[in-house]
Amino acid sequence: MSKIVNPKVEQKRPTKAFSRPASKLPDAPTAAALRIRPVRRDDLNAVIEMDAMVTGITKRNYWNSLYRRYADAVATGQHFLVATAGNEVIGFVIGEVRDWEFGSPPCGWVFAIDVRPDARLLGAATQLLQAICQRFKRTGVSKVRTLLSRENTLILSFFRSQGMMIGPFIPLEMDLDH
Ligand SMILES: CC(C)(COP(=O)(O)OP(=O)(O)OC[C@H]1O[C@@H](n2cnc3c(N)ncnc32)[C@H](O)[C@@H]1OP(=O)(O)O)[C@@H](O)C(=O)NCCC(=O)NCCS
Repeated sequence: MSKIVNPKVEQKRPTKAFSRPASKLPDAPTAAALRIRPVRRDDLNAVIEMDAMVTGITKRNYWNSLYRRYADAVATGQHFLVATAGNEVIGFVIGEVRDWEFGSPPCGWVFAIDVRPDARLLGAATQLLQAICQRFKRTGVSKVRTLLSRENTLILSFFRSQGMMIGPFIPLEMDLDH
């Protein structure tokens, strides 16, 4: 019987075609320097700045309201975590456990994850995702989901690298006429 060869296993992983932007942090962060912890009120400016850098829109009211809803809501399955390197906040993740949404048993949802451009490819987002998934697991859920923009291949590459696959739902939408 001939041996079945899985090319994914046999082939050497291609060399990365991307490189890390030069860090503007005083001491360029290393993976070992990264810490993950719940957000604090004085982290908010860094989070707002990071989001504005990625989306081009400063949404101070939105972030203040998210902070109020998520920062102290661990008991209800809501999490807002930051990644730090030294005293700098360099990334964040937000998510929650939602019960029976879309008819599915309770599961974790990640709805925002961002890492500052000059601190990427150090594993910060990986650590943030692992940290929030551990918290989801503690509440007994065994599945994590997210939604992302079809055009955002960066975030898609990241989630795929973490083992996420296409789920059983399809998003639908329509314009509401006024
Ligand atoms: C996606 C993002 C969170 C990744 O953060 P990060 O800290 O650099 O990610 P990690 O270092 O943990 O990378 C983990 C894996 O993701 C994949 N990945 C990360 N950046 C990548 C890139 N630029 N190209 C291809 N794959 C990439 C790789 O597989 C990587 O593993 P590897 O380094 O062993 O190859 C970050 O690039 C980001 O904030 N992008 C903007 C996010 C965004 O658009 N948010 C709005 C919607 S929520």
